[in-house]
Amino acid sequence: MQLLIKNGRIITATDDYYGDIIVSAGQVTAIGRKLSVPSAKVIDAEGLLVMPGGIDPHVHLDMPFMGTFSSDTHETGTRAALHGGTTTVIDFVLQQQGHSLREALDEWNERAYGTAVGDYSFHMAVTDFNANTKAEIRTMIEQEGITSFKTFMAYKGALMIDDRQMTGLMQEVKQHGGMVTVHATNGDVIDYLVAKHLAEGKTTPLYHYLSQPEVTEAEAAARFTDLANYTGCPGYIVHLTCEGALNAVRNATRRNQKVFVETCIQYLLLDASKYDKGFESAKWVMSPPLREAKDQETLWAGINQNLVNIVATDHCPFMWQQKLMGEHDFSKIPNGHPAIENRMELLFSEGVNKNRISLNKFVEVACTNPAKIFGMFPRKGTIAIGSDADIILFDPNEKHTIAAATHHMNVDYSAYEGWEVTGKVKTVLLRGEIAIDKGECLVPRGYGQFIKRNKVNGKI
Ligand code: URP
Ligand code: ZN
Ligand code: ZN
Ligand code: ZN
Repeated sequence: MQLLIKNGRIITATDDYYGDIIVSAGQVTAIGRKLSVPSAKVIDAEGLLVMPGGIDPHVHLDMPFMGTFSSDTHETGTRAALHGGTTTVIDFVLQQQGHSLREALDEWNERAYGTAVGDYSFHMAVTDFNANTKAEIRTMIEQEGITSFKTFMAYKGALMIDDRQMTGLMQEVKQHGGMVTVHATNGDVIDYLVAKHLAEGKTTPLYHYLSQPEVTEAEAAARFTDLANYTGCPGYIVHLTCEGALNAVRNATRRNQKVFVETCIQYLLLDASKYDKGFESAKWVMSPPLREAKDQETLWAGINQNLVNIVATDHCPFMWQQKLMGEHDFSKIPNGHPAIENRMELLFSEGVNKNRISLNKFVEVACTNPAKIFGMFPRKGTIAIGSDADIILFDPNEKHTIAAATHHMNVDYSAYEGWEVTGKVKTVLLRGEIAIDKGECLVPRGYGQFIKRNKVNGKI
């Protein structure tokens, strides 16, 4: 069936105009003024913003981590994402140390295929780089369409790789047209501080925060950036939180090096005062931890300076019962918080409405840059002829309040409970189907497609 979206204000990363959009066979086929297709279903977008579907390139669905699994499955997580205007997510496949990338991919395909409601792709997290893993990189890029390789400089003994492995991985990935992404914090220093605090009997969530000071992130960001420069490998830092780490990237621009930077909505909006709430603070135990007001300012400025390219979520929800695993030891609290459903509306409300970023910048960091940086553009991330009709209709004035009682994520609290938001996702199209309308999800479990991604070159 054809759709005709009429009278909307169409916003992309570069444009802002009133027009009509024709959608046929899942794609945008025409954009113009006063279009008419007698047989099409008409969607009236008068008074609404018409924007590309959001892309969240950092989510952890049904992920085995810290002795449990993140509580959103590919079904519940992508459905919640759709409710919040995010039509595509990139999830992380985790290689198990001592095992192959292929085994991990098979496991993740099993969980996601036929269950995801929204579109999804995978990053491959390399936790054990050796001769066997090296031989799998090219296949992942060229046959599987997995062109980004995630590394952890922390979580020692579980996910962390050392600099020897990092350098080898970067050389191999560069050779085949991929990108290395990184959780950039110094795992050794963090481990030392965690052990020290626990030995002193300091076991509350506050010490999670105090075990990951800014220097642990700034040092790792600089080291990663230097190694990416040395190997010539495209690089991307996930969930960057602080001034010191951003300065490492800023310094690299002086030698004309581009390392992409992602921050997450929580680091723009929340701060370390959340760690003053006793054990309730476990809701915000994530790595890196929330930072200071000066870091929030640096990150907003970094977006406008084109140093911070993407606002993601690092959605990694755990039920309260799971958080209680760390009631007597902060190092056992599963790290992560829920936000996949809230990212777009919060960023609009706090960013655009409060005049911190422009409307075009909003689309750029929430939709277009994720598609460009990760090899999905122009199929995803924009509204253009030939692009997938992943489109949101957004009321910039409608107010609502975030609450666990009404969200769709599979988690029994909200990290943003009571937050007043101005701006609401009204209708969501995914590949031309009406996926969300009037608060209802209209596409079934299994509607989501795996998106194979193109090679990347570290330029946008
Ligand atoms: O606390 C976090 N960030 N949990 C998810 C895993 C990761 O480090 O991204
Ligand atoms: Zn094995
Ligand atoms: Zn991380
Ligand atoms: Zn993460």
